[in-house]
Amino acid sequence: MRVLLIISGGIAAYKSLELIRGLRRHGAQVRPILTKGGAQFVTPLSVSALAQEKVYDDLFSLTDESEIGHIRLARETDLVVVAPATADILAKMANGIADDLATTALLATDRPILVAPAMNSRMWAQASTMRNMELLKANGVMTVGPAHGELAEGEIGIGRMAEPADILAAIEAALGGPLTGVRALVTSGPTHEPIDPVRYIANRSSGKQGHAIAGACARLGAAVTLVSGPSNEADPPGVETVHVETARDMLDACLQALPVDVAICAAAVSDWRPAEAETQKIKKGRRTNATSPNLELVENPDILATLGARENDRPRLVIGFAAETDDVVAYAAAKLASKGCDWILANDVSPHTGTFGGDDNKVHLISRTADAPRIEEWPEASKVEVAARLAERIAETLGSAA
Ligand code: C5P
Repeated sequence: MRVLLIISGGIAAYKSLELIRGLRRHGAQVRPILTKGGAQFVTPLSVSALAQEKVYDDLFSLTDESEIGHIRLARETDLVVVAPATADILAKMANGIADDLATTALLATDRPILVAPAMNSRMWAQASTMRNMELLKANGVMTVGPAHGELAEGEIGIGRMAEPADILAAIEAALGGPLTGVRALVTSGPTHEPIDPVRYIANRSSGKQGHAIAGACARLGAAVTLVSGPSNEADPPGVETVHVETARDMLDACLQALPVDVAICAAAVSDWRPAEAETQKIKKGRRTNATSPNLELVENPDILATLGARENDRPRLVIGFAAETDDVVAYAAAKLASKGCDWILANDVSPHTGTFGGDDNKVHLISRTADAPRIEEWPEASKVEVAARLAERIAETLGSAA
């Protein structure tokens, strides 16, 4: 992947250095253009050292035959990224002004453009900036951010440049991957089932594996809806995350997300919930005859089985997890049939494995075939690596079924 990265003049330019590192780590070739303003915030030396490329900054030095011309610079790329994109450069882009190398390249390019606006929140909210953004979007320019948060002047508001990881995800999505055009639904985290307004039933799921799967699918180009129970994991970049508490809310959010091509149920949904959640906090010792409360439990809906049994909008691929502490593979194989799913990722969650809440996972992939289920052992790997492998596998399977 080749990226022409235009760094314009904003304090967020320092984050573009990290973006260059991220792009390089992904094997991208980065050609940087630094505007005059950009060079006030980061030096050409640091940009070129990280990009391992010459920094282009002068329109007129490019006219020399020995130099690469600005038209070639604008076109020998898969994507043009403007990060940070100031109000000024956005205004010029919206109006076709080309008065330096960056804006000339932007006018000359026939490649997709992604902008990461960064400015003070008042500048962002100005009618002129909003109008320019509308024009740019109507012209097919893609945007990422800006985010809400602390701004350089100490104010809080909308205007922060998107984080490098988010820009990277937007770049990958813009360039498309093997899951481009695929809609994916992922469930993640535990559910909380209220006993009363302050107490609930939950489990030890961290959401790490499910969130990593949502992120991995988005990186390959899928449009992902992540339905997450309460988790400390950050919303993955480039993913639409819906936050829920209970199993019933999770089911509603999943049904809302249909139709999808693939559903991956990684949530540790509570199997039961209290039959009746008290509306007031249950007080110790104040109950009639002062006995401990008896929790009557009722079964929660099974989201995976519900998705697997949909008649008209069943996802083409329904994938579940089986977290067991013994006879992992045998239980998982049985679950394929009982849950009506296509694949089960079986993992051992015995306390000694550290899987719950840990960063690593050891899984078996069990898939349904015409004969006996096929069992594949994956090497122990980080949850992020397991997610990437699963996303690749989904891409191969959906691609070959298309
Ligand atoms: O039955 P068990 O909880 O072991 O099944 C695990 C699989 O089923 C996981 O994929 C989990 O996300 C899914 N599941 C669900 N809804 C439930 C219970 C489990 O989607 N109520």
